[in-house]
Amino acid sequence: MSTSKINIAIDGYSSCGKSTLAKALAKELNYVFIDTGAMYRAVTLFALRKGLASQGTVHSESLIAVLPEITITFKWNDDEQRSFVQLNGETVEREIREMDVANHVSAVASIPEVRKKLVQLQQKMGESKGVVMDGRDIGTVVFPKAELKIFMTASPEVRVQRRLTELMAKGQNVTAEEVKGNIESRDYQDTHRAADPLRQAGDARVLDNSNLTPADQLTLALSWVNESV
Ligand code: DC
Repeated sequence: MSTSKINIAIDGYSSCGKSTLAKALAKELNYVFIDTGAMYRAVTLFALRKGLASQGTVHSESLIAVLPEITITFKWNDDEQRSFVQLNGETVEREIREMDVANHVSAVASIPEVRKKLVQLQQKMGESKGVVMDGRDIGTVVFPKAELKIFMTASPEVRVQRRLTELMAKGQNVTAEEVKGNIESRDYQDTHRAADPLRQAGDARVLDNSNLTPADQLTLALSWVNESV
C-alpha cells in the first residue's frame, strides 16, 4: 500500500455500525477518528445547560447568538484509544450520550448556523489528511472530494436489534417497539431536514453490513482503502 494518507468519509443512518468501522479503520491505518455526531451532541449539551433547549424545543435564535461562546475540541483518551469530545475544555463524552441530549440533537443539528460552524471545524481537521470521519454529510458536504466515501446501511431488523443490545448493556429498559420508533423518527429527521440532509454521495461505496461481522466489514473497507490511495 502507498504511504500517502487519504480522508475517509463514512455516512449512513443511525445504528448502522458507522463508528465501529470508523474506529477500526483509524486504528488499522493509524489515522485520526472523528465522531461528528459527538460535536452536534456537545452543542446540544451546551444549549440544555444554558436553558436554550427543553421539552423537545430548541430556541434557535438564542442558540445562534451564543455560538461564538462554544469551543469544541477533541482530547486523546489512552484507555479507550480514541479521542473524547470536549466542550469549552471539559470532557463531555459521557454527558452527550444521555437521553436529554439524544432527544434534542436532531433539532440542534437542523440549524444551518450550527452546521456551518461545525462543518468549518471538521474541514480544518481534515486539512492534513489521515482522517476517518463519520456522520451524515461527510461525503456530500464536509469532504466532497474525499478519496474514499462509504455509505453504510443495514436491514431495519438488524439495526433495531443492535441498538436494543447496546441500550440493554447500559441498563436501560426499553422495548423493541420503542427502539424501532426512535430509529424510524431519527431516519426521517436526518433525511428530511432542509440543511445538509443525509443522502448517499453519488461516488460512495455502499456497505450493507446486515450479514457481516465487524471483522468482515473492516476487511472489505480496507480493500477499498487500498484501491483509493
Ligand atoms: O451519530 P449520532 O447519532 O451521534 O448523531 C447525533 C445527531 O447528530 C443525529 O441526529 C444526526 C446529527 N448529525 C448530523 O446532522 N450531521 C453529522 N455529520 C453527524 C450527526
